[in-house]
Amino acid sequence: LFRTRQVGPVVEPRVYVEKVTGDLYLLRVDDVRVEFFEAMWEVPERITYNAYVLTGDEPVLFDGWKREYSDLFLQALEEVLEPRSLKMAVVHHAEPDHSGTAPAVAEAAPQAVFTGHPLAGRVLKSHFRVERFRPVKDGERISASGRTLRFVYTPWLHWPDTLVTYVEEEEVLLTCDIFGSYSIPPLYDDQADRSQLSRAIRKYMITVIGHYIDHVGKGIEKLRNLGLTPRVIAPGHGTVYRRNPEWVVEEYLKVASGRPEPGKAIIVYASMYGAVEEATVAVKRGLEEKGFRVAVFGFTDKARPPVSEVLAEISDAELLVIGAPVYEQSAHPIIFHVARLIGEKLPHRRDMPVILTSSYGWGPAGKALADILKGYGFGNIYVIEFEGMPRESELKNALKALKLNP
Ligand code: FEO
Repeated sequence: LFRTRQVGPVVEPRVYVEKVTGDLYLLRVDDVRVEFFEAMWEVPERITYNAYVLTGDEPVLFDGWKREYSDLFLQALEEVLEPRSLKMAVVHHAEPDHSGTAPAVAEAAPQAVFTGHPLAGRVLKSHFRVERFRPVKDGERISASGRTLRFVYTPWLHWPDTLVTYVEEEEVLLTCDIFGSYSIPPLYDDQADRSQLSRAIRKYMITVIGHYIDHVGKGIEKLRNLGLTPRVIAPGHGTVYRRNPEWVVEEYLKVASGRPEPGKAIIVYASMYGAVEEATVAVKRGLEEKGFRVAVFGFTDKARPPVSEVLAEISDAELLVIGAPVYEQSAHPIIFHVARLIGEKLPHRRDMPVILTSSYGWGPAGKALADILKGYGFGNIYVIEFEGMPRESELKNALKALKLNP
């Protein structure tokens, strides 16, 4: 069996069972083991999985955790009720960071009927052999434990199956991925540092929801048009918003708007032997002289910046500079990878000015990178190809052509 290297030490997850309101409980695990969320995004800050339970005479479970925490999940569930008493298990979204515990729940709660979007039922059946499923319609209401559960479809945030539940009497909106964030923040927003939360939200939104970010505004508008005024927003990742739920809604709208921070420039480059790195230093100096605040991420033989951070930083930049050496008559593959992810995850930044700088070896790399970005709809691109070092006049011309004068 091929074994890959364990990146970090194996540490024990932390579990919380907390009353949120009335008969609604939060079951949270801090996934302190995860290094690469979705096997891709570097998350040294980790992530939490939040499930919720409505107790009473017809108890309902909302979501779950990743499969590796199944035993802990059942123990947490037993803190608030006898699992056999569960009547329903709502699946807001079938991605296995929330549904991985479904098989354990199905076994421990033989009466429980899983509920959600029809597509979630398909995933539960095909992935987990969970057969007891009742689909809900958009806008449908179901009564349980003296509460009205109102289900609202919020498609493409970030799967087609995504829906939310509004617990009408409690005025609690259970949102799964939507309004989620990375990191292991305090349980409630009134205990959390807002600037840290903002950062965790932006990075999570860009990496997880980014491809479908245009649907954030649509989903929020739909919820607002229904007149929902939640007193609490309870997401599937991160902190629960009980002091100011509107804050996280506005944060989501801000990130989704793609509004750049004036004067913020990001340089991302790869440099195998230092030529592009040298040119990058010159470009950075030139941009700073023009008044830009510049952050630099370099992929070299000694450094590998986290792509998750690179994308989050680019997401509100006014200007992006990508530097690439030639590699096999094209651009360096790692920069191709980053350029593709920019195209995939930042569709709302298609109008962002981009300068491509490429050191000319056997052939130009800039055009190949420009073609990738143009394929994703980025059109405001200026290519500087140079042998040795770029001339100062070329940067000036680029800024002029891109109409940048911070
Ligand atoms: Fe947190 Fe899309 O799962």
